Amino acid sequence: MAPKVTKICCIGAGYVGGPTCAVIAVKCPHIKVTIVDLNADRIAAWNSPDFAVPIYEPGLVDVVRKARGRNLFFSTDVDGAIEEADLIFVSVNTPTKKSGVGAGSAADLNYVELATRRIANVANSSKIVVEKSTVPCRTAESMRTILEANSKPNCRFDILSNPEFLAEGTAINDLFSPDRVLIGSLQTPEGKAASDALVEVYANWVPTKQILTVGLWSSELSKLAANAMLAQRISSINALSAICEATGANIDEVSHAIGYDSRVGPKFLKASVGFGGSCFQKDILNLVYLSESLHLPEVAAYWRQVVEMNEYQKRRFSKRVVDTLFNTITGKKIAVLGFAFKADTGDTRESAAITLIKDFQSERALVNIYDPQVAHSQIWADLQEASPQASLDSIKKQVTICGSALEACKDAEAVVIATEWKEFLDIDWEEAYKHMNKPAFVFDGRLLVDADKLRKIGFKVTTIGRA
Ligand code: UDX
Ligand code: ADP
Repeated sequence: MAPKVTKICCIGAGYVGGPTCAVIAVKCPHIKVTIVDLNADRIAAWNSPDFAVPIYEPGLVDVVRKARGRNLFFSTDVDGAIEEADLIFVSVNTPTKKSGVGAGSAADLNYVELATRRIANVANSSKIVVEKSTVPCRTAESMRTILEANSKPNCRFDILSNPEFLAEGTAINDLFSPDRVLIGSLQTPEGKAASDALVEVYANWVPTKQILTVGLWSSELSKLAANAMLAQRISSINALSAICEATGANIDEVSHAIGYDSRVGPKFLKASVGFGGSCFQKDILNLVYLSESLHLPEVAAYWRQVVEMNEYQKRRFSKRVVDTLFNTITGKKIAVLGFAFKADTGDTRESAAITLIKDFQSERALVNIYDPQVAHSQIWADLQEASPQASLDSIKKQVTICGSALEACKDAEAVVIATEWKEFLDIDWEEAYKHMNKPAFVFDGRLLVDADKLRKIGFKVTTIGRA
């Protein structure tokens, strides 16, 4: 019989753990959910009286408001929460390794390992341990080895893989009505019983036919594969956007025509300045690393090209800006609108804006940045990380963070739209035009604005995927 889950602990209060477990708490009032993190500032923000939660996600505050203090708790007491839970989600960060073996492609599993060791050391009773963070294949196996080698007598650990498919910006909706929930387990009686216990949690709001139960390996690989296939669509359409720019074709018309084929479908075919986010690049590189370790170099090269196409797309776009501005942007002011990797999030991980701004900096342009959600401190941290040799003071001589889009456009030669924030549609473009140097250029990296309308005002408009 499946053990009954009454107390859940989630290790990691980030973009994945926070929203996911807050939604579980709302949908399962009979389960006590405690989300823990080592980062005390983050926990304090989750607990703040005015609900100033640490991540921007539409609808999230309402969810937290409903359940916090009822059956949803945020705490820095990692050990206490592990101790009392029957089921533990591990939702810690798994960035790409920056040094050592596999640097640049393998995942850094240090945080997963530390969290796993902590569980083994603290637990005095049996637990179901669920890997939630996106991890390379076989991580569950390593977690199991660590847990078994360090556990106390009479404690058994069952490991499940339950990858999260939410996209930032639509996380709450994605969690309320997921396309599917995927649960991987060992195909032993105990493994299946643990899997059933987690199925029962999700069955409180997800139709059971959408809850897929598979083997551990399949579950881990499916997550990487799903992200790789999604990213591949974007790289494919972006590769075609280059052909459109060189011919007279229009990428929006091409996407539309392709998407009408029901085998392809219309979603995820929007050409852009390049994909970003914490998952796509990381997960494809994981797949590349896996393929290489399995001695499948052709497979590795195939997937690596998806990432290379993305780098090419970003480079191509910044080159187009320079070329159009009469082959030099030295000393010219460029307004970059949007810094997040996509709209409706404050997350900047792998954002295309970072690469564009770095390119503009190396051309010695002056850059004005405006983003409606990203914290200024985050922008400075990202620009510093992108140019480790430069001092923050020297970066600040070239870059200014502005409080509005109009302020960013003042005295600029060009506006670059890097994130598809809806509010950029409502900019008073006539006003922006008045305060810009002439000729005034707009580079739309997101196929966002009405180019004809802007041309009527006087702007010279360049759009991805159009000659
Ligand atoms: C992605 C997956 O969608 C999600 O299922 C997985 O759990 C995590 O990774 P996320 O990174 O949050 O989610 O955002 P997503 O909406 O997938 O966008 C990723 C990037 O692709 C963004 O930079 C976005 O702007 C870009 N994109 C997306 C395009 O350029 N064109 C598109 O058509 C769609
Ligand atoms: P993701 O997008 O995968 O959710 P984040 O970086 O937003 O990634 O969140 C991961 C969180 O996990 C961070 O807040 C980090 O402090 C936390 N974390 C990492 N390791 C541990 C650990 N051993 N115990 C508790 N929290 C941890």
